[in-house]
Amino acid sequence: MTRDTLHGADEIGVGLMGLGVVGGGVAATLLDPAQHVARTVGRPVSLKRVLVRQPDKERQMGVPPGILTADPTLLLNDPSIQVVVEVIGGEEPASSYIRQSLSRGKSVVTANKEVMAKEGQELLTLAAARGVDLLFEASVGGGIPIVGPLMKDLLANDIRSIQAIINGTTNYMLTRMARDGMDFDEALKEAQGLGFAEADPANDVEGIDAGYKLAVLASLAFHTQVRAEDVHREGISGLRARDFRYAHELGYAIKLLAIARREGGQVQARVHPCFVPQEHMLAKVDGVFNAVEVEGDLTGKILFHGRGAGREPTTSAIIGDLVEVAKKLGAGGGPAPFFPPGNSLTVAPMSELVTRYYIRLGAADRPGVLAQIARVLGDQDVSIASVIQKDSNPGSQTAELVVTTHPAREKAVQESLQRMRGLQVVRQVDNLVRVEDWPSD
Ligand code: HSE
Repeated sequence: MTRDTLHGADEIGVGLMGLGVVGGGVAATLLDPAQHVARTVGRPVSLKRVLVRQPDKERQMGVPPGILTADPTLLLNDPSIQVVVEVIGGEEPASSYIRQSLSRGKSVVTANKEVMAKEGQELLTLAAARGVDLLFEASVGGGIPIVGPLMKDLLANDIRSIQAIINGTTNYMLTRMARDGMDFDEALKEAQGLGFAEADPANDVEGIDAGYKLAVLASLAFHTQVRAEDVHREGISGLRARDFRYAHELGYAIKLLAIARREGGQVQARVHPCFVPQEHMLAKVDGVFNAVEVEGDLTGKILFHGRGAGREPTTSAIIGDLVEVAKKLGAGGGPAPFFPPGNSLTVAPMSELVTRYYIRLGAADRPGVLAQIARVLGDQDVSIASVIQKDSNPGSQTAELVVTTHPAREKAVQESLQRMRGLQVVRQVDNLVRVEDWPSD
């Protein structure tokens, strides 16, 4: 297509909300004189306005200062803007802006996992009612295409499970802690320096960010409502260097996994640290990389792997969505919601989970102690797979015990830990990490 043909066609106006790391990437792509996006769409695509907090702040981005504004109504009320790209992040005001854009008949492309996890179904329904699009590939996994495949390419499948590493910050930290014996604070500082971290580090390290992303993936995969608050979440702040050492000795890596699994009429949805067998592909996903393993009844297991955050990968996902929206503009129809009305799988309570466990505890080092601990577990029907005694301290007559179990029910294991804490011979229960063994792999 020549520049002239592009010139003659109707222009598509884009309003960009947010000019941070990702917004800067999107703006640069749209302002690129080579007009790659316009050529792909087959029509001129013009960045009309950019919403920022401080329009007067000095920027080195090449965005014409005249299109910067702090007034959202200049985008929302501009009839020449047909598509709004939202990269502000966080719930408010992003959610209101998305809602208002859709209500005014504008299509929206967003990277907002929090808004999609909390209000995705409602917003998709609103978009469909208005005959506009709401696309959100960038909300999960940065540059990895995963939303599109779940919404389209994998639809023939009954999805059985999703197992994912979808927070680059924590994966980077776990890699550093495992490989270099770094402690938690040091690893966090380094990860933040790389520019992947959320504004509030708790969102990364407590599994909140991964929980939002899993809610989106699980809703898409199982065509049902999995809300952010339905996802059981535990972070990585309780892990110590010795957990990594022991995991290694037992043949495992420790990863913060986001797991959604269909079991009968229920869906499990959980984010927590996991022991992953060293030979499993997810154990080999290191640094800021993300990976999503999807198991469909027809496809078997598929692994999506790549950069889950950052300017260029996230821009790739946003521009891909923008091109899709722009190509469809005027055709009407709107998107499909997460699930058709009437679909109602329930989210299983965490207490019903059955998996294997690693338990690390400090106990008195004298005859009969192990028997007491074994009895507590046995009384709850929790079967021990292995016990290793570590770090005996003759002075204080204490030892560290590492226990792994056969598959057991979460409720029974939690009850056992409660009882163990009450035993005189147990000094403290230091950690519990679930072990994902995937026997079918
Ligand atoms: N803080 C997120 C991460 C950024 O570390 O993966 C992308 O959502």
